[in-house]
Amino acid sequence: MLSQKSIEIIKSTVPVLEVHGTEITTVFYKNMFEAHPELLNIFNHTNQKQGRQQTALANTVLAAAKNIDKLETIIPVVKQIAHKHRSLAVKAEHYPIVGQFLLQSIKEVLGDAATDEIINAWAEAYGVIADVFINIEKEMYAEAKNQEDGWSDYKNFKVIDKVVESECITSFYLAAEDGSFLPAFIPGQYISIRISIPGEQFLFNRQYSLSTSPNKKHYRISVKREAEISKPAGKISNYLHDQIDIGDIIEATAPAGEFTLNNLSENKKLVFLSGGVGITPFMSMVNDIADKQLNLEIDFIHAARNGKVQAFKTELQELKNKIANFHLSYLYDNPSEEDQKDIHFRKTGVIDTEWLKNNIADKNADYYVCGPVPFLHNVIASLKEIGVNDASIHYEFFGPSVNLENE
Ligand code: HEM
Repeated sequence: MLSQKSIEIIKSTVPVLEVHGTEITTVFYKNMFEAHPELLNIFNHTNQKQGRQQTALANTVLAAAKNIDKLETIIPVVKQIAHKHRSLAVKAEHYPIVGQFLLQSIKEVLGDAATDEIINAWAEAYGVIADVFINIEKEMYAEAKNQEDGWSDYKNFKVIDKVVESECITSFYLAAEDGSFLPAFIPGQYISIRISIPGEQFLFNRQYSLSTSPNKKHYRISVKREAEISKPAGKISNYLHDQIDIGDIIEATAPAGEFTLNNLSENKKLVFLSGGVGITPFMSMVNDIADKQLNLEIDFIHAARNGKVQAFKTELQELKNKIANFHLSYLYDNPSEEDQKDIHFRKTGVIDTEWLKNNIADKNADYYVCGPVPFLHNVIASLKEIGVNDASIHYEFFGPSVNLENE
């Protein structure tokens, strides 16, 4: 428990942190990686370079500071981050390292304003916050390991198939190298994969949604080739597309994440809205619905640049034949003549309020949205405009959470 004095100090430093939060975490990462370069095996180098992780950490520390006397209110957010941490094999012993460098950077940025009293209060508060994470993550590791055929860290997987799904998306089918079965997962969850690239000093990891329904034999991930190989974001996806083949070994952690279907009901339509490779978790969900022959009405709306870059056209057609009430719509930014002849083609352009109002507008439905950040912003704003309430909108984007207020 923090003393009342420390709570007051922490709360009074929130305005300072709001001004310097990102600066502090930027200095923090720089110093921490200089002293502990081995942590670059865990962190996503691209997120570091783009400053996204700095913002995510700063936001979380701020949210925690604001709620230091009632930390239970941020538990849902902690759980979501803990899924990511568990998926990346972040361990309890890493927390003191983060704590040490976080305090040092507060001192460095605030200078004389960071009195011993302030630093001591923050040391205490960090300890309390870190314990919340460590305890939740400990439970998650135990849960992953105790599942039938479960494991808790990275494990070797063999690529047993590689399927080109579109001009830019390729699927990799992964089976445990030791031949063991795979534990069940909840459709919508993701795995972390880790690879070593020749000539690179550190390992690289990435999270990919599982794109097919649970089965004991293999996982499928579907990877978009990022256009620019020269940019760090493209390094892993291009390596996977160009260099990883059937028979190769990739490390992976057990499925994690909370973007899953909730409260399914035959009286409640499900609306899936995806942009580009954001289609992947929905492929898992819809395949699962088909496997289980659930009697659900589904509107599946997918936005892409055009039919050539769109993945899973044939598979979606098969799913349509398996699920009685499955309505499929494609919206393309830049459709070819052939695209426009597709019976599922609906509109040239993006998913907007007007289209949703005329075609979907069901306030009782549950909406699941996945895609890049601008897509999410636009679609969620449109859903709100047509009167869908917040509780019926579920979403996930790929990358660190930028703003806790939106969680
Ligand atoms: C991701 C907060 C401790 C490693 C994140 C995210 C947040 C966060 C907000 C983004 C989650 C998302 O993507 O949705 C915190 C807080 C910590 C803490 C508040 C301390 C109380 C640690 C520790 C490590 C770590 C000890 C390991 C050394 C990572 C990594 C990611 C991540 C590798 C994934 C993002 C990336 O690679 O850029 N953390 N974290 N974190 N965290 Fe932490």
